[in-house]
Amino acid sequence: MQVYKVGGAVRDRLLGLPVTDVDRVVVGATTEEMLAKGFRPVGADFPVFLHPKTGEEYALARTERKSGRGYGGFTFYASPEVTLEEDLIRRDLTINAMAEDDQLNLTDPYHGQRDLEARILRHVSPAFAEDPLRVLRVARFAARYAGLGFTVADETMDLMCQLSESGELQALTAERSWKEISRALMEDHPQVFIQVLRDCGALKELMPEVDALFGVPQPETHHPEIDTGLHTLSVLEQSALHKQPLTVRWACLLHDLGKGLTPEEEWPRHIAHEHTGLKLIKAVNERFKVPKDCQELALLVGQYHTHGHRALELKASTLLELLQSFDIYRRPQRFEEFISACEMDARGRKGLEQRSYPQADYLRGAAKAAREVAVQPLLEQGFKGPELGEALKRERLKALKAYKEAATA
Ligand code: CTP
Repeated sequence: MQVYKVGGAVRDRLLGLPVTDVDRVVVGATTEEMLAKGFRPVGADFPVFLHPKTGEEYALARTERKSGRGYGGFTFYASPEVTLEEDLIRRDLTINAMAEDDQLNLTDPYHGQRDLEARILRHVSPAFAEDPLRVLRVARFAARYAGLGFTVADETMDLMCQLSESGELQALTAERSWKEISRALMEDHPQVFIQVLRDCGALKELMPEVDALFGVPQPETHHPEIDTGLHTLSVLEQSALHKQPLTVRWACLLHDLGKGLTPEEEWPRHIAHEHTGLKLIKAVNERFKVPKDCQELALLVGQYHTHGHRALELKASTLLELLQSFDIYRRPQRFEEFISACEMDARGRKGLEQRSYPQADYLRGAAKAAREVAVQPLLEQGFKGPELGEALKRERLKALKAYKEAATA
Protein backbone atom coordinates (compact mmCIF):
# COMPACT_ATOMS: atom_id res chain seq x y z
CA MET A 1 0.00 0.00 0.00
CA GLN A 2 1.08 3.61 -0.55
CA VAL A 3 0.24 6.45 1.78
CA TYR A 4 -0.01 10.10 0.71
CA LYS A 5 -0.76 13.35 2.47
CA VAL A 6 -3.69 15.05 0.76
CA GLY A 7 -5.89 18.11 0.91
CA GLY A 8 -5.25 21.01 3.22
CA ALA A 9 -1.91 19.76 4.52
CA VAL A 10 -0.36 19.79 1.03
CA ARG A 11 -2.04 23.06 0.08
CA ASP A 12 -0.94 24.93 3.17
CA ARG A 13 2.62 23.60 3.08
CA LEU A 14 2.95 24.84 -0.50
CA LEU A 15 1.56 28.21 0.57
CA GLY A 16 4.13 28.34 3.36
CA LEU A 17 1.40 28.32 6.01
CA PRO A 18 1.36 26.26 9.20
CA VAL A 19 -0.23 22.84 8.81
CA THR A 20 -2.49 21.76 11.65
CA ASP A 21 -4.58 18.89 10.32
CA VAL A 22 -3.05 16.14 8.23
CA ASP A 23 -5.31 13.88 6.15
CA ARG A 24 -3.86 10.87 4.42
CA VAL A 25 -5.09 8.68 1.62
CA VAL A 26 -4.11 5.03 1.35
CA VAL A 27 -3.90 3.47 -2.10
CA GLY A 28 -3.83 -0.29 -2.67
CA ALA A 29 -5.16 -1.48 0.69
CA THR A 30 -8.29 -3.19 1.97
CA THR A 31 -10.23 -2.57 5.15
CA GLU A 32 -9.01 -5.90 6.48
CA GLU A 33 -5.37 -4.93 5.95
CA MET A 34 -5.90 -1.65 7.76
CA LEU A 35 -7.57 -3.38 10.71
CA ALA A 36 -4.76 -5.95 10.81
CA LYS A 37 -2.27 -3.08 11.17
CA GLY A 38 -4.15 -1.80 14.20
CA PHE A 39 -5.97 1.13 12.55
CA ARG A 40 -9.28 2.00 14.20
CA PRO A 41 -12.29 2.48 11.89
CA VAL A 42 -13.98 5.88 12.27
CA GLY A 43 -17.49 4.80 11.35
CA ALA A 44 -19.16 1.50 10.77
CA ASP A 45 -19.29 1.77 7.00
CA PHE A 46 -16.97 4.56 5.94
CA PRO A 47 -13.46 3.68 4.75
CA VAL A 48 -11.70 6.09 7.11
CA PHE A 49 -9.38 4.98 9.91
CA LEU A 50 -7.42 6.51 12.76
CA HIS A 51 -3.74 5.72 13.16
CA PRO A 52 -3.23 3.51 16.25
CA LYS A 53 -0.55 5.86 17.67
CA THR A 54 -0.92 9.36 16.19
CA GLY A 55 -4.75 9.36 15.86
CA GLU A 56 -4.41 10.99 12.42
CA GLU A 57 -6.90 10.21 9.67
CA TYR A 58 -6.16 7.68 6.96
CA ALA A 59 -8.80 7.16 4.28
CA LEU A 60 -8.83 4.43 1.68
CA ALA A 61 -8.72 5.85 -1.82
CA ARG A 62 -12.30 5.98 -3.02
CA THR A 63 -14.60 7.17 -5.73
CA GLU A 64 -17.92 8.73 -4.86
CA ARG A 65 -21.20 9.09 -6.63
CA LYS A 66 -24.21 11.01 -5.59
CA SER A 67 -27.28 8.86 -5.18
CA GLY A 68 -29.76 11.28 -3.65
CA ARG A 69 -30.32 14.66 -2.10
CA GLY A 70 -28.31 15.91 0.84
CA TYR A 71 -25.23 14.57 2.49
CA GLY A 72 -26.56 11.10 3.19
CA GLY A 73 -27.12 10.57 -0.49
CA PHE A 74 -23.68 9.27 -1.38
CA THR A 75 -22.48 5.92 -2.50
CA PHE A 76 -18.77 5.38 -2.52
CA TYR A 77 -16.53 2.72 -3.82
CA ALA A 78 -13.29 1.92 -2.03
CA SER A 79 -11.06 -0.87 -3.23
CA PRO A 80 -7.33 -1.48 -3.71
CA GLU A 81 -7.85 -0.77 -7.45
CA VAL A 82 -8.93 2.84 -6.96
CA THR A 83 -6.02 5.03 -8.05
CA LEU A 84 -4.73 8.21 -6.44
CA GLU A 85 -5.91 10.23 -9.47
CA GLU A 86 -9.41 8.76 -9.17
CA ASP A 87 -9.52 9.71 -5.51
CA LEU A 88 -8.29 13.24 -6.20
CA ILE A 89 -10.77 13.99 -8.98
CA ARG A 90 -13.78 13.73 -6.64
CA ARG A 91 -12.41 16.57 -4.49
CA ASP A 92 -13.69 20.12 -4.42
CA LEU A 93 -10.90 22.47 -5.52
CA THR A 94 -7.76 21.93 -7.56
CA ILE A 95 -5.68 23.38 -4.70
CA ASN A 96 -7.20 20.71 -2.42
CA ALA A 97 -6.67 17.89 -4.92
CA MET A 98 -2.91 17.43 -4.62
CA ALA A 99 -1.10 14.61 -2.86
CA GLU A 100 2.45 14.14 -1.67
CA ASP A 101 4.43 11.14 -0.48
CA ASP A 102 6.97 11.00 2.33
CA GLN A 103 9.70 12.38 0.07
CA LEU A 104 7.46 15.38 -0.76
CA ASN A 105 6.96 14.17 -4.36
CA LEU A 106 3.85 15.95 -5.55
CA THR A 107 1.01 14.28 -7.45
CA ASP A 108 -0.96 17.08 -9.04
CA PRO A 109 -3.03 15.82 -11.97
CA TYR A 110 -5.52 18.72 -11.86
CA HIS A 111 -2.99 21.57 -11.73
CA GLY A 112 -3.50 22.66 -8.17
CA GLN A 113 -0.03 24.12 -7.95
CA ARG A 114 -0.64 26.28 -10.99
CA ASP A 115 -3.85 27.58 -9.42
CA LEU A 116 -2.07 28.17 -6.10
CA GLU A 117 0.43 30.36 -7.91
CA ALA A 118 -2.30 32.13 -9.85
CA ARG A 119 -4.30 32.54 -6.61
CA ILE A 120 -7.39 30.90 -8.08
CA LEU A 121 -10.03 28.81 -6.35
CA ARG A 122 -11.15 26.48 -9.13
CA HIS A 123 -13.25 23.32 -8.97
CA VAL A 124 -11.69 20.06 -10.11
CA SER A 125 -14.55 18.56 -12.11
CA PRO A 126 -18.35 18.63 -12.46
CA ALA A 127 -18.40 16.28 -9.43
CA PHE A 128 -18.05 19.51 -7.42
CA ALA A 129 -21.83 19.82 -7.68
CA GLU A 130 -22.37 16.54 -5.85
CA ASP A 131 -21.93 18.20 -2.48
CA PRO A 132 -23.67 21.58 -2.18
CA LEU A 133 -21.72 22.31 1.00
CA ARG A 134 -18.84 23.08 -1.32
CA VAL A 135 -20.47 26.40 -2.19
CA LEU A 136 -19.91 27.42 1.43
CA ARG A 137 -16.46 25.87 1.47
CA VAL A 138 -15.31 27.90 -1.53
CA ALA A 139 -16.66 31.07 0.06
CA ARG A 140 -14.83 30.13 3.26
CA PHE A 141 -11.54 29.56 1.45
CA ALA A 142 -12.04 32.88 -0.33
CA ALA A 143 -12.43 34.51 3.11
CA ARG A 144 -9.34 32.76 4.43
CA TYR A 145 -7.01 33.47 1.52
CA ALA A 146 -8.32 36.88 0.41
CA GLY A 147 -5.26 38.49 1.97
CA LEU A 148 -3.07 36.41 -0.35
CA GLY A 149 -5.06 37.61 -3.36
CA PHE A 150 -7.16 34.50 -4.05
CA THR A 151 -10.37 34.84 -6.03
CA VAL A 152 -12.96 32.35 -7.30
CA ALA A 153 -12.58 31.20 -10.93
CA ASP A 154 -15.40 32.37 -13.21
CA GLU A 155 -16.38 28.82 -14.16
CA THR A 156 -16.52 27.82 -10.48
CA MET A 157 -18.65 30.84 -9.74
CA ASP A 158 -21.00 29.77 -12.55
CA LEU A 159 -21.32 26.33 -11.01
CA MET A 160 -21.94 27.84 -7.58
CA CYS A 161 -24.67 30.03 -9.09
CA GLN A 162 -26.30 26.97 -10.66
CA LEU A 163 -26.13 25.05 -7.40
CA SER A 164 -27.66 27.92 -5.48
CA GLU A 165 -30.43 28.30 -8.02
CA SER A 166 -31.22 24.58 -8.00
CA GLY A 167 -32.44 24.72 -4.40
CA GLU A 168 -29.87 22.08 -3.38
CA LEU A 169 -28.55 24.25 -0.57
CA GLN A 170 -31.84 23.71 1.25
CA ALA A 171 -30.89 20.06 1.69
CA LEU A 172 -27.84 20.90 3.82
CA THR A 173 -28.18 20.06 7.48
CA ALA A 174 -28.04 22.85 10.05
CA GLU A 175 -24.95 21.29 11.61
CA ARG A 176 -22.89 21.14 8.42
CA SER A 177 -23.87 24.65 7.38
CA TRP A 178 -23.14 26.13 10.80
CA LYS A 179 -19.74 24.48 10.90
CA GLU A 180 -18.80 26.22 7.66
CA ILE A 181 -20.41 29.53 8.61
CA SER A 182 -18.76 29.65 12.03
CA ARG A 183 -15.35 28.73 10.63
CA ALA A 184 -15.72 31.30 7.87
CA LEU A 185 -16.67 34.04 10.33
CA MET A 186 -13.46 33.35 12.25
CA GLU A 187 -11.28 33.82 9.16
CA ASP A 188 -9.31 37.02 8.56
CA HIS A 189 -11.78 38.33 5.98
CA PRO A 190 -15.23 37.07 6.97
CA GLN A 191 -16.88 39.79 4.89
CA VAL A 192 -15.52 38.04 1.78
CA PHE A 193 -17.42 34.89 2.78
CA ILE A 194 -20.71 36.80 2.80
CA GLN A 195 -19.83 38.68 -0.40
CA VAL A 196 -19.01 35.48 -2.31
CA LEU A 197 -22.20 33.83 -1.08
CA ARG A 198 -24.11 36.87 -2.24
CA ASP A 199 -22.40 36.94 -5.63
CA CYS A 200 -23.45 33.36 -6.39
CA GLY A 201 -26.99 33.67 -5.05
CA ALA A 202 -26.33 31.40 -2.06
CA LEU A 203 -26.86 34.12 0.53
CA LYS A 204 -30.43 34.50 -0.66
CA GLU A 205 -30.95 30.77 -0.12
CA LEU A 206 -29.19 30.49 3.23
CA MET A 207 -29.82 33.84 4.90
CA PRO A 208 -32.36 35.83 2.87
CA GLU A 209 -32.61 38.19 5.86
CA VAL A 210 -28.98 39.27 5.34
CA ASP A 211 -29.29 39.31 1.56
CA ALA A 212 -32.26 41.68 1.88
CA LEU A 213 -30.04 44.36 3.45
CA PHE A 214 -28.27 45.06 0.17
CA GLY A 215 -29.87 47.96 -1.62
CA VAL A 216 -31.48 49.32 1.55
CA PRO A 217 -30.30 52.90 2.20
CA GLN A 218 -29.52 54.49 5.57
CA PRO A 219 -29.09 58.21 6.37
CA GLU A 220 -25.79 59.44 4.97
CA THR A 221 -25.04 61.52 8.08
CA HIS A 222 -24.49 58.42 10.22
CA HIS A 223 -23.72 56.02 7.39
CA PRO A 224 -21.54 57.53 4.66
CA GLU A 225 -21.59 54.10 2.95
CA ILE A 226 -25.41 54.40 2.78
CA ASP A 227 -26.12 50.76 1.82
CA THR A 228 -27.07 48.56 4.79
CA GLY A 229 -25.55 45.44 3.22
CA LEU A 230 -22.22 47.19 2.67
CA HIS A 231 -22.37 48.49 6.22
CA THR A 232 -22.89 44.94 7.51
CA LEU A 233 -19.85 43.75 5.55
CA SER A 234 -17.77 46.58 7.01
CA VAL A 235 -18.89 45.76 10.54
CA LEU A 236 -17.85 42.16 10.00
CA GLU A 237 -14.54 43.33 8.59
CA GLN A 238 -13.94 45.43 11.69
CA SER A 239 -14.81 42.50 13.93
CA ALA A 240 -12.04 40.47 12.29
CA LEU A 241 -9.52 43.33 12.34
CA HIS A 242 -10.19 43.64 16.05
CA LYS A 243 -9.91 39.86 16.58
CA GLN A 244 -13.37 39.51 18.05
CA PRO A 245 -14.71 36.11 19.15
CA LEU A 246 -17.38 34.21 17.21
CA THR A 247 -20.21 35.47 19.41
CA VAL A 248 -19.41 39.08 18.51
CA ARG A 249 -18.90 38.32 14.81
CA TRP A 250 -22.23 36.54 14.62
CA ALA A 251 -23.96 39.46 16.36
CA CYS A 252 -22.27 41.88 13.94
CA LEU A 253 -23.65 39.98 10.97
CA LEU A 254 -27.22 40.02 12.27
CA HIS A 255 -27.46 43.31 14.19
CA ASP A 256 -29.34 45.30 11.54
CA LEU A 257 -31.68 42.66 10.07
CA GLY A 258 -34.69 44.77 10.98
CA LYS A 259 -33.64 47.35 8.38
CA GLY A 260 -34.55 44.86 5.68
CA LEU A 261 -38.18 45.09 6.79
CA THR A 262 -38.54 48.90 6.69
CA PRO A 263 -41.22 49.95 4.16
CA GLU A 264 -39.56 51.79 1.28
CA GLU A 265 -41.54 54.97 1.90
CA GLU A 266 -39.79 55.30 5.28
CA TRP A 267 -36.27 54.99 3.82
CA PRO A 268 -33.61 56.01 4.71
CA ARG A 269 -34.94 56.05 8.28
CA HIS A 270 -35.43 52.78 10.12
CA ILE A 271 -37.65 53.48 13.07
CA ALA A 272 -37.67 50.66 15.65
CA HIS A 273 -35.53 48.38 13.47
CA GLU A 274 -33.95 47.04 16.67
CA HIS A 275 -37.31 45.61 17.62
CA THR A 276 -38.58 44.46 14.22
CA GLY A 277 -35.30 42.65 13.59
CA LEU A 278 -35.64 40.33 16.57
CA LYS A 279 -37.89 37.78 14.90
CA LEU A 280 -35.52 37.60 11.94
CA ILE A 281 -32.49 37.11 14.18
CA LYS A 282 -34.38 34.36 15.97
CA ALA A 283 -35.25 32.67 12.69
CA VAL A 284 -31.63 32.66 11.47
CA ASN A 285 -30.43 31.42 14.85
CA GLU A 286 -32.87 28.54 14.75
CA ARG A 287 -32.26 27.68 11.11
CA PHE A 288 -28.61 26.86 11.79
CA LYS A 289 -29.08 25.58 15.36
CA VAL A 290 -26.60 28.22 16.43
CA PRO A 291 -24.91 27.71 19.83
CA LYS A 292 -26.73 29.38 22.70
CA ASP A 293 -24.09 32.02 23.49
CA CYS A 294 -24.09 33.22 19.87
CA GLN A 295 -27.91 33.22 19.72
CA GLU A 296 -28.22 35.25 22.90
CA LEU A 297 -25.65 37.85 22.03
CA ALA A 298 -27.08 38.36 18.54
CA LEU A 299 -30.54 39.01 20.00
CA LEU A 300 -29.24 41.36 22.68
CA VAL A 301 -27.06 43.30 20.24
CA GLY A 302 -29.96 43.46 17.80
CA GLN A 303 -32.21 44.89 20.46
CA TYR A 304 -29.83 47.25 22.23
CA HIS A 305 -27.11 48.43 19.84
CA THR A 306 -28.68 51.86 19.49
CA HIS A 307 -28.70 52.14 23.28
CA GLY A 308 -24.97 51.40 23.14
CA HIS A 309 -24.36 54.25 20.70
CA ARG A 310 -26.47 56.64 22.73
CA ALA A 311 -25.02 55.51 26.06
CA LEU A 312 -23.92 58.99 27.15
CA GLU A 313 -27.38 60.41 26.56
CA LEU A 314 -29.34 57.66 28.31
CA LYS A 315 -31.17 58.50 31.52
CA ALA A 316 -29.81 56.69 34.56
CA SER A 317 -32.98 54.60 34.70
CA THR A 318 -32.61 53.47 31.08
CA LEU A 319 -28.97 52.70 31.70
CA LEU A 320 -29.99 50.56 34.65
CA GLU A 321 -32.56 48.71 32.54
CA LEU A 322 -29.88 48.02 29.97
CA LEU A 323 -27.50 46.63 32.57
CA GLN A 324 -30.26 44.51 34.09
CA SER A 325 -31.21 43.11 30.67
CA PHE A 326 -27.66 41.88 30.29
CA ASP A 327 -27.59 40.46 33.81
CA ILE A 328 -24.19 42.10 34.19
CA TYR A 329 -23.85 40.80 37.75
CA ARG A 330 -23.69 37.16 36.68
CA ARG A 331 -22.68 37.58 33.02
CA PRO A 332 -19.94 40.26 32.91
CA GLN A 333 -18.34 38.77 29.79
CA ARG A 334 -21.54 39.02 27.77
CA PHE A 335 -21.80 42.76 28.44
CA GLU A 336 -18.18 43.21 27.31
CA GLU A 337 -19.06 41.40 24.08
CA PHE A 338 -22.07 43.67 23.61
CA ILE A 339 -19.84 46.73 23.99
CA SER A 340 -17.42 45.29 21.42
CA ALA A 341 -20.21 44.59 18.94
CA CYS A 342 -21.49 48.18 19.31
CA GLU A 343 -17.99 49.49 18.75
CA MET A 344 -17.60 47.40 15.60
CA ASP A 345 -20.96 48.71 14.40
CA ALA A 346 -19.79 52.29 14.97
CA ARG A 347 -16.51 51.71 13.12
CA GLY A 348 -17.98 49.70 10.26
CA ARG A 349 -18.85 52.87 8.41
CA LYS A 350 -17.07 54.37 5.46
CA GLY A 351 -14.33 56.74 6.58
CA LEU A 352 -15.15 56.28 10.27
CA GLU A 353 -13.11 53.13 10.89
CA GLN A 354 -10.65 54.93 13.17
CA ARG A 355 -13.17 56.93 15.16
CA SER A 356 -12.99 56.75 18.93
CA TYR A 357 -15.85 55.16 20.81
CA PRO A 358 -16.10 56.78 24.24
CA GLN A 359 -19.36 54.91 24.80
CA ALA A 360 -17.32 51.75 25.49
CA ASP A 361 -15.57 53.06 28.60
CA TYR A 362 -18.65 54.88 29.69
CA LEU A 363 -20.68 51.66 29.63
CA ARG A 364 -17.91 49.77 31.43
CA GLY A 365 -17.86 52.46 34.11
CA ALA A 366 -21.62 52.27 34.49
CA ALA A 367 -21.51 48.50 34.88
CA LYS A 368 -18.80 48.88 37.51
CA ALA A 369 -20.81 51.47 39.43
CA ALA A 370 -23.89 49.24 39.46
CA ARG A 371 -21.89 46.18 40.48
CA GLU A 372 -20.23 48.00 43.34
CA VAL A 373 -23.51 48.56 45.16
CA ALA A 374 -23.16 46.32 48.18
CA VAL A 375 -25.97 44.03 49.35
CA GLN A 376 -24.75 43.64 52.91
CA PRO A 377 -25.89 47.02 54.25
CA LEU A 378 -29.37 46.37 52.83
CA LEU A 379 -29.52 42.96 54.48
CA GLU A 380 -28.47 44.60 57.73
CA GLN A 381 -31.32 47.05 57.34
CA GLY A 382 -33.66 44.04 57.27
CA PHE A 383 -34.57 43.90 53.56
CA LYS A 384 -35.40 40.47 52.17
CA GLY A 385 -37.13 38.81 49.21
CA PRO A 386 -38.64 41.09 46.57
CA GLU A 387 -38.13 44.13 48.80
CA LEU A 388 -34.43 43.47 48.85
CA GLY A 389 -34.50 43.39 45.05
CA GLU A 390 -36.31 46.73 44.94
CA ALA A 391 -33.94 48.32 47.45
CA LEU A 392 -30.95 47.09 45.48
CA LYS A 393 -32.39 48.57 42.32
CA ARG A 394 -32.92 51.95 44.07
CA GLU A 395 -29.32 51.96 45.28
CA ARG A 396 -28.01 51.06 41.86
CA LEU A 397 -30.06 53.81 40.29
CA LYS A 398 -28.58 56.27 42.78
CA ALA A 399 -25.10 55.02 41.96
CA LEU A 400 -25.74 55.39 38.24
CA LYS A 401 -27.08 58.93 38.65
CA ALA A 402 -23.92 59.87 40.52
CA TYR A 403 -21.79 58.12 37.93
CA LYS A 404 -23.53 59.87 35.03
CA GLU A 405 -23.17 63.23 36.67
CA ALA A 406 -19.48 62.75 37.36
CA ALA A 407 -18.69 61.26 33.96
CA THR A 408 -20.54 63.82 31.87
CA ALA A 409 -19.72 66.89 34.00
N1 CTP B 1 -13.16 17.66 0.57
C1 CTP B 1 -13.98 17.83 -0.53
N2 CTP B 1 -15.29 18.20 -0.38
C2 CTP B 1 -15.80 18.43 0.85
C3 CTP B 1 -14.99 18.27 1.98
C4 CTP B 1 -13.67 17.91 1.81
O1 CTP B 1 -13.54 17.64 -1.65
N3 CTP B 1 -17.08 18.77 0.98
C5 CTP B 1 -11.77 17.20 0.37
C6 CTP B 1 -10.80 18.29 -0.05
O2 CTP B 1 -9.84 17.66 -0.88
C7 CTP B 1 -10.17 18.72 1.25
C8 CTP B 1 -10.10 17.41 2.00
O3 CTP B 1 -11.27 16.69 1.59
O4 CTP B 1 -8.91 19.30 1.05
C9 CTP B 1 -10.06 17.56 3.51
O5 CTP B 1 -11.19 18.26 3.95
P1 CTP B 1 -11.18 19.20 5.21
O6 CTP B 1 -10.32 18.62 6.27
O7 CTP B 1 -12.58 19.55 5.51
O8 CTP B 1 -10.54 20.55 4.67
P2 CTP B 1 -9.09 21.01 4.37
O9 CTP B 1 -8.96 21.18 2.89
O10 CTP B 1 -8.09 20.16 5.05
O11 CTP B 1 -9.09 22.49 4.88
P3 CTP B 1 -9.12 23.10 6.33
O12 CTP B 1 -7.80 23.79 6.41
O13 CTP B 1 -10.25 24.05 6.23
O14 CTP B 1 -9.34 22.01 7.31
